[in-house]
Amino acid sequence: MSLIIAPSILASDFCNLEREIRSIEDAGADWVHVDVMDGHFVPPVTIGAPVVARLARVTRLPLDVHLMITNAEESVDSYIDAGASIVTVHVEAVRHLDRVLSHIRSKGVLAGVSLNPATPLSTLEWVLELADLFLIMSVNPGYGGQAFIPSALQKIRQLRNMLNERGVVRHIEVDGGVTPTNAGALVEAGANALVAGTAVFASSDRTAAIQALRTGP
Ligand code: DX5
Ligand code: ZN
Repeated sequence: MSLIIAPSILASDFCNLEREIRSIEDAGADWVHVDVMDGHFVPPVTIGAPVVARLARVTRLPLDVHLMITNAEESVDSYIDAGASIVTVHVEAVRHLDRVLSHIRSKGVLAGVSLNPATPLSTLEWVLELADLFLIMSVNPGYGGQAFIPSALQKIRQLRNMLNERGVVRHIEVDGGVTPTNAGALVEAGANALVAGTAVFASSDRTAAIQALRTGP
């Protein structure tokens, strides 16, 4: 699997989303990571399905929608209908994980499941085959610009081993505090998709920023 770079538009200028998305397209991004926050699962409120639908009309890049919301079962369809290519729910925020992952897949969209830093990998044991993507949080969700939590490295390594032992090929994506300095170790541990907000959008040269995530500082 070649490395996927998914800039998080949480760190972009919300007044100019079309322009911001064009800039990361031109800079070589693979996916657009969209952080949806509801003010319940995490304190902030960001954007919802109507904005995702507008984004889908201005980019050909896959929209990688990260739902930091409670009762995601009730609203996954609105993000699928809006044009998401990947819909990721949090294991801590859904009651029926098996059902919601199967439902997302049945709609022809990649199903993702995310773990907070304190959530053990054992929560994934019975859904390893049901998810297309595992999103390992390397910060506590809710905010961009936080410091990377190093235990994510070991978690990614263990998860890749679990998948390999079961003969399951899946995306492992990591989100939070990803920089050119830690990107290499994350890929070495088994991640094949890197989310980066600040590291891309706060850079004056976004092409160089994305390239540095691929090759190191
Ligand atoms: C945090 C979000 C992240 C965030 C990452 O809750 O899920 O996607 O935007 O931002 P950085 O890369 O700045 O840590
Ligand atoms: Zn995210």
